[in-house]
Amino acid sequence: MITLTDISKLYQNGAVEVTAIKQISLNIKKGEFVSIMGPSGSGKSTLMNIIGCLDTQDSGSYELDGIQIESLQEKELDRVRNQKIGFIFQSFNLLPKQTILRNVELPMIYGLYSRKERVERAQLLLDKVGLGDRIKNRPNELSGGQRQRVAIARALAMNPSILLADEPTGNLDTASAADIMHLFSQLNEEGTTVILVTHDPQIADYGTRIVLFGDGEIRSDVRKTHDRNVGETSGLTREFWHRT
Ligand SMILES: Nc1ncnc2c1ncn2[C@@H]1O[C@H](COP(=O)(O)OP(=O)(O)O)[C@@H](O)[C@H]1O
Ligand SMILES: [Mg+2]
Repeated sequence: MITLTDISKLYQNGAVEVTAIKQISLNIKKGEFVSIMGPSGSGKSTLMNIIGCLDTQDSGSYELDGIQIESLQEKELDRVRNQKIGFIFQSFNLLPKQTILRNVELPMIYGLYSRKERVERAQLLLDKVGLGDRIKNRPNELSGGQRQRVAIARALAMNPSILLADEPTGNLDTASAADIMHLFSQLNEEGTTVILVTHDPQIADYGTRIVLFGDGEIRSDVRKTHDRNVGETSGLTREFWHRT
């Protein structure tokens, strides 16, 4: 579903050129739950922005669902992003003056939904994230965890096949973070591909694959598998990690 080949991105910081990511190649299949970890400044957000079509690479190729992304014009890129990608940020990025219903409705304004359909779908999505009774509230009337759930409902508005979350639990307490991660796990089990950046190994552990970044490069890439043969008689499964 996602094939990145030799992707590089440079930034010009005054006179200094920073290579944010260096010739990264990465393949992500439909239905995976990938956690990306690595130190601050190692290029995680840069990669997420490229995968999410919010930014473009300087070199290398990016294929998403068979579409060669670097060959698209800006308008087509907007359309691919709107149809395929749901983005979730650490700081929620909700519109403070709008109700949460309106916040979830907004991405659908550019789609083919009628106003009635938009409202119904926003209500449905807010029900799904457990906030169906708070639709008239504004973001500042909700807790951090609730705000992030609104952001997830909004990200789901256009029924994306990929959810990208850049440190989504970075501003949350442990209990709210666990709530949010259960929601991601549920969405992944329903078929959505999830790619998540986190500093926290316990959060990363919700994923089924962990990609470790260092200095703009992939340092390791491991998949978690359930060994169904281990402890079968006692009903236990053992998780272990292997290199891809
Ligand atoms: N818009 C930008 N302009 C200039 N430099 C940037 C920009 N975005 C990121 N960088 C630089 O690129 C490198 C990688 O940043 P980033 O992808 O944000 O890392 P991470 O998300 O892992 O903390 C850093 O050195 C950062 O300073
Ligand atoms: Mg970052």
